[in-house]
Amino acid sequence: MRKAQRERLSDLLPQISIDSLDTLTDPSALFDTPVNAVWLEVGFGGGEHLAAQAQANPDIGFIGCEPFINGVARLVRTVESADIRNIRVYAEDARRLIEALPTRSIERCFILFPDPWPKRRHHRRRIVSPDTLDELARVMADGGQLRLASDHRDYVRWMLFHTLQHGAFEWCARGPEDWRTRPSDWPPTRYEEKAAQRGETSIYLEFIRRARADK
Ligand SMILES: C[S@@+](CC[C@H](N)C(=O)[O-])C[C@H]1O[C@@H](n2cnc3c(N)ncnc32)[C@H](O)[C@@H]1O
Repeated sequence: MRKAQRERLSDLLPQISIDSLDTLTDPSALFDTPVNAVWLEVGFGGGEHLAAQAQANPDIGFIGCEPFINGVARLVRTVESADIRNIRVYAEDARRLIEALPTRSIERCFILFPDPWPKRRHHRRRIVSPDTLDELARVMADGGQLRLASDHRDYVRWMLFHTLQHGAFEWCARGPEDWRTRPSDWPPTRYEEKAAQRGETSIYLEFIRRARADK
């Protein structure tokens, strides 16, 4: 990263950064104006999807997690140039943030094109895992939406297996068109576009967090 970029990042990031997980007792309080719901993106990369969603949904507060500092810098530039007010950033491991979130506080969660860790011995590093799904099931509101996507066939099967196996999530697909076609309110990501350039097709999985028995 160049010096000027570093200086800009150090000016702007503190304004939107979540530095203390203690402040997460009420995530909607992270935003300057009242929000109707809070949505979470895990591993936003360069932030293209996050920024587009935030612009399309100004009444929603967005939390984006991304430890890759060049990606954070890219998002911060977009936030500044497009004057986006409803994004907060956690520039570390999303799992720590999710653990700190209150129960039923997230209405929608995106995990788009997560690192596939293709070697079997690395599968335990995959972010979509029984442990993460347990935590997401806790923090997501009843009826909340979980959106997953990948161009990596084995990871798609893994995500589907573990999410269905978990029991708290219901897959919304009625037929192949639903997992082959990106919904119109789901902007593309950089990784998805790179995959398309390589001739890979992507799969889009949408789940609903089932209503809990205890109200
Ligand atoms: C393959 S990239 C996809 C980026 C973006 N979602 C896209 O589709 O263009 C996966 C991203 O997940 C981020 N990531 C990996 N582990 C993470 C974690 N534990 N918490 C948050 N982000 C993570 C990586 O830094 C990387 O930017």
